[in-house]
Amino acid sequence: MSHWNAHFETGHLSIDAEHREFLRQLDALKEAIDAGAGREKVVELIVVLQRYVLGHFAREEAHMRRVGCPAHDANCAAHREFALKFDRWLELLTYGGTPVSLLLEVHRESLAWINHHILKVDCALRSCPTHGPDKSSPAP
Ligand SMILES: [Fe+2]
Repeated sequence: MSHWNAHFETGHLSIDAEHREFLRQLDALKEAIDAGAGREKVVELIVVLQRYVLGHFAREEAHMRRVGCPAHDANCAAHREFALKFDRWLELLTYGGTPVSLLLEVHRESLAWINHHILKVDCALRSCPTHGPDKSSPAP
């Protein structure tokens, strides 16, 4: 099981909540693999995970831009790279079958990636304000 710990906290509540959800979905995937769930169920979990991850990346990138996070560009590049890796996994699962070794690889590498990524990139948010400039207030 993957465990959330204080080292992962960026201090930006919506981002932290999404990272927790990412980890929760990875746990659910691992449980399904370990329980020998059928191909359809496991692939469905991976498709749902991919959709969630892509939505999270877009929301996190927009948030970093809003608050002027210095890691914004590095974050976008890392997200693109992981999204490509995920595309390749889904292609393999769709056309190459679903051997348990590949399912475990998706889980293991996703978990390793998100743990490393939060600590090395997303935690740059700690030095940023939690909200961007309020565009509704009149210019001075
Ligand atoms: Fe990120």
